[in-house]
Amino acid sequence: MKGLILSGGHGTRLRPITYSQQKQLIPVANKPILFYCIEDLINAGIHDIAIIVGPNKEQVMETVRAVEWDARISFIFQDAPRGLAHAVKISRDFVGDDNFIMYLGDNLLKGGSADFIRDFSDSKVDASLLLTEVEDPRQYGVALVDEQKKIIVKLVEKPKNPQSNLSIVGIYGLTPRIFEAIDHIKPSWRGELEITDALHWLIENGCNVRYGMVQGWWKDTGKTEDILDANRLILDTIENENNGSVQSATITGKVKIGKNSVIREGSAINGPAIIGNDCIVSASTIGPYTSIGDSSEIHSTSISNSIVMEGARIDRIHQITDSLIGKNVILKKDDASHERKTFVLGDSSQVML
Ligand code: DAU
Repeated sequence: MKGLILSGGHGTRLRPITYSQQKQLIPVANKPILFYCIEDLINAGIHDIAIIVGPNKEQVMETVRAVEWDARISFIFQDAPRGLAHAVKISRDFVGDDNFIMYLGDNLLKGGSADFIRDFSDSKVDASLLLTEVEDPRQYGVALVDEQKKIIVKLVEKPKNPQSNLSIVGIYGLTPRIFEAIDHIKPSWRGELEITDALHWLIENGCNVRYGMVQGWWKDTGKTEDILDANRLILDTIENENNGSVQSATITGKVKIGKNSVIREGSAINGPAIIGNDCIVSASTIGPYTSIGDSSEIHSTSISNSIVMEGARIDRIHQITDSLIGKNVILKKDDASHERKTFVLGDSSQVML
């Protein structure tokens, strides 16, 4: 079994962050979302993985190559986001005659996908999809299932009038039969070759397309709120770990502090929260549900429910909340107003209030 992770696309709903960062590299609890996907595949026993990369390919390749993985990882270049089925089509040489798991690189799954992958590999089905119930299926691929037989009878991508509330989650068990299906489909109204259409073609041509249901939570991290949700969900699972130095500051709840980080007097870290390596926190309150990236400095500031990426300098902002703050951002205030502030700041932004 091989793994194919999709890490291309433009991530337009996450601008301005995605002007300079590939969306799958945005850190959740200080780890790129993409790394959770790679780890999930490896935990499920898949050690031959290809990653689809788009125009920001160097960024993704460098970040992935900086880590030693228990897997052979190769990269496949997709010149533009021409659809999930297009990404599969250009991976034909990599897949060969093997079955494979396609994993959308912006998806996070609490329980992981090992059980789903095991069921798929033990079965003789032509494809298997992970599904979950959602409130608004119109934003997703939607499946209509035959309860008795445990098979999918119909698939529609982002239907206006959904026939069920079962959404396709971004983890697909596929066999080389998918290539024949992709050769038979045309681009959709959004100009993309849809994997949902290819899978529907398989169903219409007598193939057996099964499904599994998500256990625990699943997050498609398309928007800022989703990324902050995912950050909260992951932070809820961390354990205490202090590799830095805490100088008579208050630590409550589950808190992780990285190497060489200093939490100075007058600070409070309210878990769950994570502070990366080489950070300085002084006279500040961090958390709950906050991740501070490596080499950041936070002074006289209070931050909750937020992600601050590496290299930030934040000074005297009374209350930051629900924010996504890019790399190397400088955020400073001179007056003494105590209003709550919310920011989505791209890399290297400088805001003086
Ligand atoms: O998240 C689940 C949904 O993902 C499913 O319910 C839908 O059926 C499926 O089509 C997909 O819909 P999205 O609109 O969310 O897909 P998105 O364009 O966000 O792409 C998903 C991931 O794949 C994202 O990490 C970017 C990457 N990608 C996307 C395209 C279109 C590529 O690498 N290449 C591409 O050509």
